[in-house]
Formats: sequence, structure tokens, C-alpha cells
Amino acid sequence: MLIDLNGISRRKQGKEIIKNVSWKINKGEKWMLYGLNGAGKTTLLNILNAYEPITEGDITLFNMKPGKMGYSADAVRDNIGFVSNSLMDRFQDGEIVLDVVISGIFKSIGVYQSVSPEHIERAKQSLSNMGMSSFEQQYYGYLSTGERQKVLIARALMGNPQLLILDEPASGLDFIAREDLLISLDKLYNQNSELAVIYVTHFVEEITESIQKGFLLKQGRRFMQGDIQNVLSSETLSEYFNRNVIINKQNNRYSLFLKEHNIAENEI
Ligand SMILES: Nc1ncnc2c1ncn2[C@@H]1O[C@H](COP(=O)(O)OP(=O)(O)O)[C@@H](O)[C@H]1O
Ligand SMILES: [Mg+2]
Repeated sequence: MLIDLNGISRRKQGKEIIKNVSWKINKGEKWMLYGLNGAGKTTLLNILNAYEPITEGDITLFNMKPGKMGYSADAVRDNIGFVSNSLMDRFQDGEIVLDVVISGIFKSIGVYQSVSPEHIERAKQSLSNMGMSSFEQQYYGYLSTGERQKVLIARALMGNPQLLILDEPASGLDFIAREDLLISLDKLYNQNSELAVIYVTHFVEEITESIQKGFLLKQGRRFMQGDIQNVLSSETLSEYFNRNVIINKQNNRYSLFLKEHNIAENEI
């Protein structure tokens, strides 16, 4: 088991942001983490990344438990590739794409250590896995948002993580860029059956066939977790939103509608 959260809570400034959450993540599992704005997704990810402590409960990350001194945050993060939107703006426009990917080995922004031919080869392979080989020598600043997202995923994989966390990777992408990203990710998942993934989103449209598990977070609590087809059902989501919704599945992809919207249209 990679992650084991047992009734954890997180209080910040007197406010309980994560409440009694339990979640187990095993090797190779591909998870959706779903929640509305403010549900606590980022806080939960910060806990998994050892950026934030818990205030209650029991937590084991990659077989490490926080002791009196706390676990070594670096030792936890060695196991995780993390891509978030705040990362995207931290690289210089003038940086070469291959260097951005290589910096993932050192978990630094920019490359300050000496780079071996083996590092370069791995970075090229990682870019190639994301379908980005032709951009190796390009300036990072010239890339579109979708292309940058793929480069940052290639970078996150340089440390050979056991868990890849993608925090809303498709936000801000147009339809084609989003679909291109999802295709690249599906290929990546197929090549790495051992890699566990947490794909964070509040759009069911982004969930592809490879993602078999879902975790619904609502106001800091676990609303439901389980197989994706049970989590992404009209029944579950209607309860989750307190609104009647309909989920459609076609071509192994999901879409979501408000039921009252359909009724209104039929009455016209
Ligand atoms: N440092 C903080 N102090 C108090 N409240 C916070 C702090 N950080 C986040 N929150 C609150 O915690 C809730 C969850 O935030 P967040 O984890 O960012 O949710 P999400 O990523 O799902 O949008 C929000 O209501 C937010 O306002
Ligand atoms: Mg967030």
C-alpha cells in the first residue's frame, strides 16, 4: 500500500478543512479525486505531499509514519510526481524544454548540477512518452498551456515516482488540447501499470477508461469512494450535489447534466 489515511482531520485557523477522511491507495491504482471548489482537494494533496501536517487521525505515506519529529518530507516526496498549475509559471520562458524535464531529477527549478548522458537520455524518453519529442529543443515560453502540461508531466516522471498527482491538469485547455492531453495520459498509464495516479478534477468529462477508482470529497469529508462506475452514477452524484443530475456514458466517456434543465427544455 502506498497511501493509508485513517480518519484524518486537518484544522486551519480554527476551521476543520479535512474531516475524518480515510483513503487507501495501492500500487498501480488510477484514481479520480473529485470535489467542488473549496471541498478541500488541494489541502488533501498537501497532506499527501507532506507539505501540511494532520491534526487528527493516523497517516502512513509509503510505509512511513510521522514520528515525534515528523517524517522526512523529502523521503515522502521522493515517491511522488506532482503537477499543479502553480508549478507551470515557475519556469523561465527562455528555458529549453529538455532542461525543464531534466530538472525533475533534481526536483529543482532550473538545472544547477552536472547532467550525465544518462539523464539526457531519460529526459528524451520521458518527453517521447508524452508525445513531446519534437519539442525537446524548443523554448518553454513558446509552448501552449497543453504542451507545457505534458512537459511538466514528463518532468514529474523523471524521479520514477510510485504516485503521480495531477491537480486539475486540464483546466484552461481548449477541447482539442484537453483531448490530446488525455490521450497522452492514457498511453502513459498503459505503459506504467505499476504507477498509481490521482487525477484531480471537477469535470467528469475528463475521466477516461483507464481511471477505475473514484473518491468524492464534499466539504472536507469523504462522500463516497469506490469503483468509478458506482461513483459516477446519476444516483450518487444527485445526492452529492443535492440536485437531480443525469450522467451519460458514451464511448467510455462521461457527461453530466442537470435534470431540471432537460425538463424545462421539453416543456417549451
Ligand atoms: N490557510 C487557510 N486557513 C483557513 N482556511 C483555509 C486555508 N486554506 C484553505 N482554506 C479553506 O479550506 C477550504 C478548502 O480549500 P482547498 O483545499 O483549497 O479546496 P479545493 O482545492 O477543493 O478548492 C476552503 O474553504 C478554503 O477557503
Ligand atoms: Mg484546489
